[in-house]
Amino acid sequence: MDREVTDTAAASGLEGVEAARTAISDVDGERGRLTIAGQDVEALAARASFEDVCILLWDGRLPDDGESAPFRRALGRARVHAYEELAGLGSALQAADGMDALRAAVAHLTVTGDESEDRVRVTAATAVFAAAWCRIRAGLAPLAPDPTLAHAADYLRMATGRAERAAALEAYLVTVAEHGMNASTFAARVVASTGSDLVSSVVAGIGTLKGPLHGGAPGLVLDMLDAIGAPERAAGWIDGELRAGRRLMGMGHRIYRVRDPRAAVLEKAVAALEQADVAGSRLRLARATESAAQQALAARHADRPLRTNVEFYTAVLLEAVGLPREAFTPTFAVGRVAGWCAHVAEQRRVGKLIRPSATYVGPLPAPDPANP
Ligand code: COA
Repeated sequence: MDREVTDTAAASGLEGVEAARTAISDVDGERGRLTIAGQDVEALAARASFEDVCILLWDGRLPDDGESAPFRRALGRARVHAYEELAGLGSALQAADGMDALRAAVAHLTVTGDESEDRVRVTAATAVFAAAWCRIRAGLAPLAPDPTLAHAADYLRMATGRAERAAALEAYLVTVAEHGMNASTFAARVVASTGSDLVSSVVAGIGTLKGPLHGGAPGLVLDMLDAIGAPERAAGWIDGELRAGRRLMGMGHRIYRVRDPRAAVLEKAVAALEQADVAGSRLRLARATESAAQQALAARHADRPLRTNVEFYTAVLLEAVGLPREAFTPTFAVGRVAGWCAHVAEQRRVGKLIRPSATYVGPLPAPDPANP
């Protein structure tokens, strides 16, 4: 019986297996709700800054009036410090892939051992390194941080040279900062459970986030929209992909059986840009594609609802704020690093090594003729 249960859990990617008791966030896949430390993600995206969400994740409560400004300044100073470290990164930021670059650059960080200081440093450095990679891949020199700006605005400015659409990016970073026991968070917690350091946990998170089944999908969503080209072509193109046995990026989720609530938050943020005359035609194409994809998937998978996930409107939003598609997954890491840091601290408090078992199904040693 035990053996059957283990086999089933392993074959389904540990779906439904509880790996932690957490006070950090709850993903309700049936109702389509994401609660972060007692706050609905929609409410947070509407009123909280990324800095507020860092405090919420790390201290379990939103900051009061006196706390926001000092924390924002501390994160700004940490960005300046991270920028000073660029010179010591060698060729790390020359990598062609942004996640390879980010993984190598973050791995250069050293930690003080004071976790509340280290998480500010790692969060700041992730933004500075991702933005510097953006500039370097475009053949430009990295831009120095402006510590007086909010984190989201400064990241956008360092990456693209402009920060006018920072409000949309802020909503994005808040929305993706934390999301339950996703694969990269689990990876970060496994590393933390061994007693290893925060940087090692974050490096594991970055490596895990890179995959297209996790954080690597949004660039591919834009490729899909480009290939479709016009709303009236969506249904035919999608049908061809599904017939060829390919997956539609930005669709489906391990937990959500309804539309990912983050998709609605991001769609709203893009719609606000549309009113400012940005992203209008892209949004129309995205909505037509979403509707055709959901119809096609419902027809093929009547027993498993495959609805829009966070990556779908992430792609439209990050393009609209001016980021190149190669920077989409690194930008996801700029937000999610806050969640990884919270989980690392929580895992340390648990104080127990994560070490599951495996059922051996390989060959057995040949019998020893001398000892039958
Ligand atoms: N397009 C087409 N078919 C999909 C699909 C998609 N996006 N997502 C799942 N399916 C199908 C699978 O082919 C499978 O069909 P089958 O039972 O006929 O073999 C079925 O749905 C179940 O898929 P499975 O891979 O077991 O589900 P999962 O919970 O492990 O996968 C994802 C979750 C996110 C990995 C998956 O939905 C996916 O690959 N999505 C596309 C990538 C993406 O958007 N990633 C970002 C995630 S936030």
